[in-house]
Amino acid sequence: MPRIEFEKRREFLTSLPGMIDTNERFQLFKYASQAKGAVVEMGAFFGASTACLAAGISINPELSGGAKLISIDAFKVGAKHALAKHVLHTAKKYNLTDKLHITEKAIDWLAVTRHLTSRYVRHIEFIQFTVNGSLSNLSIPENIDLLFLDMPKDSITMHPVAKDLLPKLNCHSKLIFQDYAYLFSDELIAYFELLEQINVIRLCTSISTSNFYEVIAENPSRVDWIGLLDRSQSECEDLISKAIKRCSQIKGKHDNCIIALKFALVNSILKRSEHLGLQSQKRIYSVINDLLFNYDKQAVSLMLTELLTKDFERM
Ligand SMILES: C[S@@+](CC[C@H](N)C(=O)[O-])C[C@H]1O[C@@H](n2cnc3c(N)ncnc32)[C@H](O)[C@@H]1O
Repeated sequence: MPRIEFEKRREFLTSLPGMIDTNERFQLFKYASQAKGAVVEMGAFFGASTACLAAGISINPELSGGAKLISIDAFKVGAKHALAKHVLHTAKKYNLTDKLHITEKAIDWLAVTRHLTSRYVRHIEFIQFTVNGSLSNLSIPENIDLLFLDMPKDSITMHPVAKDLLPKLNCHSKLIFQDYAYLFSDELIAYFELLEQINVIRLCTSISTSNFYEVIAENPSRVDWIGLLDRSQSECEDLISKAIKRCSQIKGKHDNCIIALKFALVNSILKRSEHLGLQSQKRIYSVINDLLFNYDKQAVSLMLTELLTKDFERM
């Protein structure tokens, strides 16, 4: 049923500029079409994921009557930030430059996202907010049934999410981690690995770079989400190594996912570079050696370049 309904909307939903592929778009649509309560999105950009989630809500029999997706994003970037160029380029490509609000200091694209998702206006509430502290002042329902995470993948940005949003999940709620298979997601990979190990969540589907989880803790409001986040950061490398093992056991899992996780491990070791001793060097050597000799060379070169040029713009 979701597949047929998605096909009816495929042309529109796959035409929107965004950072997710068609398979991920379908999964977001499907999960939202089956949600039993509030749907929250962290990270909308121009609204590709937003439209897919809202379209899913629009056909969801349990959420009839104009239930809303709460979509949170800064919708704004400093003029000198690497993302600014991408915003300008994408707006130009889609003939939307006139909808940007550009000042000397920043570019604001909320009007673009509103415009592109306007056919689902009934089902979307945008919150323009930069996550850098508490989320408790935002008006978010007490119970969240579907939470889509597509923001920076560092533990500092995750902290307020762990404090104010994760406790609002119910047993059987769904949690989507976009960019799981991404070399700079190391801190969240470790967190989700720990949550899986202690049976707080379980993986339902892994599609492209997204992982779709179900919350299986009986009482999520009593889970120590913050304590576990802190713990995962102190055991980061060990947890990522376990995540690599877990991922290797998933039937049909693409090598690119393993390559990304292995580079996430390298990134995590490098981050603690003040303490980088011979031991760490040996670990990095063995990961790179394994990647160069056992995996697709082009994919490895590309990710190695990304790692070495992470302070440049994304390729
Ligand atoms: C990868 S993009 C989201 C892509 C989108 N889901 C799609 O389907 O195309 C990440 C988004 O996170 C937002 N973002 C990054 N840091 C943020 C922060 N601290 N607070 C709020 N939004 C932030 C950016 O503005 C950007 O739109």
